[in-house]
Amino acid sequence: FPDRTEASRTLALELAALIRTINESGRPAVLGLATGRTPLPFYGELIRLHREGQLSFAKVITFNLDEYLGLPGNHPESYRAFMRRELFDHVDIPAENLNIPDGMVPPEALEAHCAAYEELIRAAGGIDFQLLGIGRTGHIGFNEPGSPRGSRTRKVELDPITRQDAAPAFGGLENVPEYAISMGCGTILEARRIALLAWGAAKADIVKEALTGPVTDQVSASFLQEHQDATFYLDAEAGSKL
Ligand code: F6R
Repeated sequence: FPDRTEASRTLALELAALIRTINESGRPAVLGLATGRTPLPFYGELIRLHREGQLSFAKVITFNLDEYLGLPGNHPESYRAFMRRELFDHVDIPAENLNIPDGMVPPEALEAHCAAYEELIRAAGGIDFQLLGIGRTGHIGFNEPGSPRGSRTRKVELDPITRQDAAPAFGGLENVPEYAISMGCGTILEARRIALLAWGAAKADIVKEALTGPVTDQVSASFLQEHQDATFYLDAEAGSKL
């Protein structure tokens, strides 16, 4: 796409149509959602479609990819706060349909919390549409290099590059959490349709590696090459090395 606005608009229209089709078949649509800077124009388009009366989230269930460990839901950099601010507060999604890992889960309850998250996804019928960004380490969710293809929701350690990229938002590297809870590569790859967004020249190298390099656990996004319905939505800069 020439720019992120056009890419976001195209995908938002696709997703609105998918939600309508699934709802018309008599069941809620199950979405996997991402945070970070990348999805902002996309969420803006979804909100616009909702305001124009073209898209309802009344029968939508969402699962977020990840959450920082140690951040309460009311911390402005928590992904729970992010999702409220950037999407949920502006659309008609029922509060009980939102699922985000709990960053304040005590260590002794962490494993059970992650297993319960996986079970909730299963019980909802699996993810119809998974939105992804890509980190400069090639991560999807927070599946940093070395995350196995079959990994599930679990505690993960953030790569130094990922923490560096988050430092400005946290007002310094020392404030960036070291750990997160993330859906695994296996969890993500089970989604029936996947859309990965990437904008800007800083993502061009890793986009090229993910799409045209070897399929390897050193670049989690490369696993998408083997998915039957995954699409990369790129602006001109992010696609400039292809
Ligand atoms: C966010 C997530 C991450 C981001 C990635 C890109 O929920 O799981 O994989 O998508 O770190 O972040 P931005 O969009 O800020 O460049």
